[in-house]
Amino acid sequence: MNKPKVIVTRKWPATVESRLQALYDVQLNESDVPMTADELKIALQTADALLPTVTDPITADILSVPNKRAKIIGNFGVGYNNIDIAAAKREGLVVTNTPHVLTDCTADIAMLLLLMSARRGSEGDRLVRNQQWTGWRPTHMLGQKVTGKTLGLIGFGRIAQAVARKAHHGFGMKIICTAPHAPVPDVLQEFQATYYATADEVLAKADFISLHCPGGVATKHLINEQRLKLMKPSAHLINTARGDVVDSKALIKALKECWIAGAGLDVFEGEPNIDPGFLELDNVALLPHLGSATEETRVAMGNRVLDNIAAFFAGEEPGDRVA
Ligand code: DGY
Repeated sequence: MNKPKVIVTRKWPATVESRLQALYDVQLNESDVPMTADELKIALQTADALLPTVTDPITADILSVPNKRAKIIGNFGVGYNNIDIAAAKREGLVVTNTPHVLTDCTADIAMLLLLMSARRGSEGDRLVRNQQWTGWRPTHMLGQKVTGKTLGLIGFGRIAQAVARKAHHGFGMKIICTAPHAPVPDVLQEFQATYYATADEVLAKADFISLHCPGGVATKHLINEQRLKLMKPSAHLINTARGDVVDSKALIKALKECWIAGAGLDVFEGEPNIDPGFLELDNVALLPHLGSATEETRVAMGNRVLDNIAAFFAGEEPGDRVA
């Protein structure tokens, strides 16, 4: 029997690409140049499975290309707001993602940004590199203590809970959270967390806010000018979720005018293009979407995609089906 044909849109870790080559008739992307919309359409017409990632927009237009051969889209990423899920369903395509395996590494990046923002890590690094450091002194570069402070989580899924675990058990932080549905009491109990029905309550009470909601229309600009004004002037905003959850212009204004003390961002509206307003500010730590970027996690994400398509081709339900 012929091996199923699969097309991978970007370069993957070598061990996972080798597994793909052993199992499938695979088209890899050695150059790692993003595929165009036309190339993605052809991929859907010529392969049994398309394996995109979170930076490939799989739009309704692409999905509605006629004469499709593909039956499954195995997204390399836990977030799948790059895919028009309603259109995929209409077209009868199965869609899977890669949950669980990136939870801890993404939570680590949220903690890293939280610490960088509180303790002025980026600013200090720049000072040393620019040879502007004149020596230790009692009032130099004072940041804010993290231990014992209140962390507000917007969204309380797997990654938020991993952040809560690290922050509560590691840094003695008090955890407050909000989510569309109240978590079960046992989950809250693990971190002695308090649930609030609205983001506004959490924003007003926390010393640090960390965003953990999915991207997409429902959460676009959830953090806007009005909500930033609810935060304490000493508070910090951390975003490892999706860039468009935060209104960038409003955040730049908030940081410039000191409505809040700082921010740590791993994701951006329209990334990799960053609003130049951020680059002029000292009180924001900026990372290039590193949430899941460890060797172990990226290999595990690839293997998770392989497990999903293997189940599909065996006629079984893929473990991580989202459509
Ligand atoms: C995801 O998987 O959704 C992240 O943004 C990249 O790991």
